[in-house]
Amino acid sequence: MRSNKRWVAMLAALISVLGCSPADKPPSLADHRLDDPPPLTGHRPGAAGIGDTDFPTDGNGGYDVSHYDLAVDYTPMTKQLQGVATIQAAATQDLSSFNLDLSGLTVSKVSVNNSTATFRRQGEELTVTPAKPIDVKSRFSVKVVYSGQPKPIQDSANLGTFGFVATPDGAFVASEPDGSKTWFPNNDHPADKATYDITITVPAGVTALANGELVGRPTTAQGKTTFRWRERHPMASYLATATMGKFAQREGRTPAGIPEIAAVDPKFKTSLDKLFTLTGEITDYWSTVFGPYPFSSTGGIVDDFAAGYALENQTKPLYGGFAPDQSIIAHELAHQWFGNSLSIKRWKELWLNEGFATYAEWLWSEHKGGKSAEAIFNEFHARPADDPMWAYPPGRARPDDLFNLSVYNRGAMTLHALRKAVGDATFFKLLKTWTADHRHGHVTTDEFIHLAEQLSGQNLRPLFDAWLFQPRRPA
Ligand code: TRP
Ligand code: ZN
Repeated sequence: MRSNKRWVAMLAALISVLGCSPADKPPSLADHRLDDPPPLTGHRPGAAGIGDTDFPTDGNGGYDVSHYDLAVDYTPMTKQLQGVATIQAAATQDLSSFNLDLSGLTVSKVSVNNSTATFRRQGEELTVTPAKPIDVKSRFSVKVVYSGQPKPIQDSANLGTFGFVATPDGAFVASEPDGSKTWFPNNDHPADKATYDITITVPAGVTALANGELVGRPTTAQGKTTFRWRERHPMASYLATATMGKFAQREGRTPAGIPEIAAVDPKFKTSLDKLFTLTGEITDYWSTVFGPYPFSSTGGIVDDFAAGYALENQTKPLYGGFAPDQSIIAHELAHQWFGNSLSIKRWKELWLNEGFATYAEWLWSEHKGGKSAEAIFNEFHARPADDPMWAYPPGRARPDDLFNLSVYNRGAMTLHALRKAVGDATFFKLLKTWTADHRHGHVTTDEFIHLAEQLSGQNLRPLFDAWLFQPRRPA
């Protein structure tokens, strides 16, 4: 017993084991009689955040999700969603209760291991207290039944609108950094990746698109069609999508044989073939530069929500309200390696996603005989010393301005500076080694610096320090 807090927590655990206190009323010391036996277990509540201090309530502590089985029924006319989320997880501590992230929506029932659990909502936290506490390392399942009109997140983290966005014919679902909680309960942080089954039921005539591949053909009954999608590689929750509406589609394979699906809102019909062709060509090219494609299909979706941006949703980047050009397709597909297969542990290291994807745009330009990466680097480097990019160190993305252009452009410049320092042979070997070593895993900036030093035999700390961490223009 190290502290009063811990003592109270243990008491709470014991009392909830004995079933003599409603889960949503914290027991006080007065509930405890002095002659009670000491608590038998160390079961305690999981933390309300996964430990990213910039986003203290994002994700949760005490467990690790391995699989989400989502069944959502959505009616565009009424904007009503009905969902059942079944989550497979393993406890990383003895748990008396644990949290999921969920924004809005109404929860009607929660069960853990098929037994009814009690639950409480507080802001964007759903706290679940199972009938029986969960032992460290044990696997458990959580089923959440919920419904309502999903509401996207507006203008948090300087980003405009993200999450589940209703459109006239369906929904545009792009959730970075923490908007997946607007449509399903989850551990909403990239530090916990999982596989997904996403089953979507919509009025017949509407198409539903999600990550990975379709399992069987869509089935229609009583005026509703059900699409079953499966993403069998680990995925961060912000990359999950259930984008719905009217779409023109093209299916096939890339020239190198990777299964591919492209879909565009009827408004963008004329760009379907271009999207399909470029996506195939670029996916194949990146496979030669970055290493084998990490997923079992590639593709892209253009929807008519005028987001003005794109998101690298796993296997199917989503372009918001515009026909994408080569450069942005190259960017979103590069994310399939950098961000999706290799995921960050903390949002402050976002340059590992955006710096690499932006550098990929420069590489694509160079590959196509356009401006060289060197020329683009030089244009940025010529910006005056008081350009805001130099005041913002990209190696430490700020929660209030996460997607600052410095994270993109100065992040990319960091890679070009590195390429010049170590030479092309080492640089491109480094990219492939990096993606191979951490395929479907997590990465940190320190690990990247370490690998770059190992492969080059150089001390690269000063270079990375100047480019990533100093609030001034590097020489
Ligand atoms: N990651 C996106 C990009 O590559 C930008 C982005 C951040 C975004 N958050 C988003 C896009 C939310 C759509 C929705 O550039
Ligand atoms: Zn990006």
